[in-house]
Amino acid sequence: MWRGVVEEYREFLPVGPDTEPVSLQEGNTPLIYARQLSERTGLEIWLKYEGLNPTGSFKDRGMAMAVTKAKEDGAKVLICASTGNTSASAAAYAARAGMRAVVVIPDGKIAQGKLAQAYMYGAQVVAVRGNFDQALAIVRHLAETHPVTLVNSVNPFRIEGQKTAAFEICDELGEAPDVLAIPVGNAGNITAYWKGFVEYHLHRRTRHRPRMFGFEAEGAAAIVQGKAIAHPETIATAIRIGNPASWNGAVEAVEQSGGMMGAVTDEEILEAYRWVAREGIFCEPASAASVAGLVKARADGRLEKGMTAVCVLTGNGLKDPDTALLHAPGRAEGPQVVEATEEAVANAMMGS
Ligand code: F0G
Repeated sequence: MWRGVVEEYREFLPVGPDTEPVSLQEGNTPLIYARQLSERTGLEIWLKYEGLNPTGSFKDRGMAMAVTKAKEDGAKVLICASTGNTSASAAAYAARAGMRAVVVIPDGKIAQGKLAQAYMYGAQVVAVRGNFDQALAIVRHLAETHPVTLVNSVNPFRIEGQKTAAFEICDELGEAPDVLAIPVGNAGNITAYWKGFVEYHLHRRTRHRPRMFGFEAEGAAAIVQGKAIAHPETIATAIRIGNPASWNGAVEAVEQSGGMMGAVTDEEILEAYRWVAREGIFCEPASAASVAGLVKARADGRLEKGMTAVCVLTGNGLKDPDTALLHAPGRAEGPQVVEATEEAVANAMMGS
């Protein structure tokens, strides 16, 4: 039985022999070969489907680790700022650990599924009239002045937990890929993957370390532009972030690996979102930024034919039904409504 990332990767994590993991058996997500995308690009593309974690995003890896440590330290209350996925995950792991969770979100700017999760798992939801960056600044300060544990990715245990996805990729492929493509918001995850690949290279002797290709949404591309963005905007609300907390970690990952940080437009994100669905996988819009960016990098001549690339699909498409219903193929016409007779359905089926 898979026991979750803390137990499975104990030797690589800052836990003691007596540490009792708080777990929902996160991790062990599938690495799925993308046939059509591979044919389209001439690359060998694999999708790391993190949307199959217990709360539907990669955050569960980091949250398992952060909440394990919080519990060990006797914490009672967790707090985070979030564009939605961190709040869903914090709420779930707080429930699991018997703690309280306070989640601070940008009002009106998180996907419906994520909001539903936070409420269902019993979190206290506070919506600020502002953006994620403002919410993060507030909770960082509150965590310094109040007895609450911050579980955003500025908490180093979050990064520790999230690096386990890089381990899984190497274990599955038997080697590190040539390229790792990943969406970038607050930049914790790219930092975590790089740490994971570096550690596996050192301790498990993988042949090489991948080039790290991070992609921000164009309307929120602070790292690409080299300056914080006061009013970030993108349809990919998960990465609608103008001043990434792990900015330095992302730059290091890109520089040390010989990779790149790029920007993708909302149109490119939505196109890739539909390509991924054509592979049979429903991811959320932010996740598709990895695919959009990789395809663009290949078209720009940055990658050679036959290279192996893994795109991280960070979250499950079910979290954001509104965007899907607005941008799915065939959606414009809506469903065909017919009489409840075999003849009417047969006619619809035959297109008459
Ligand atoms: N993809 C999804 C689906 C996300 O939810 C996030 C971040 C990212 C990518 C970017 O990861 O921040 O480590 O660079 N979501 C955070 C949240 C900010 O609050 O749920 P990152």
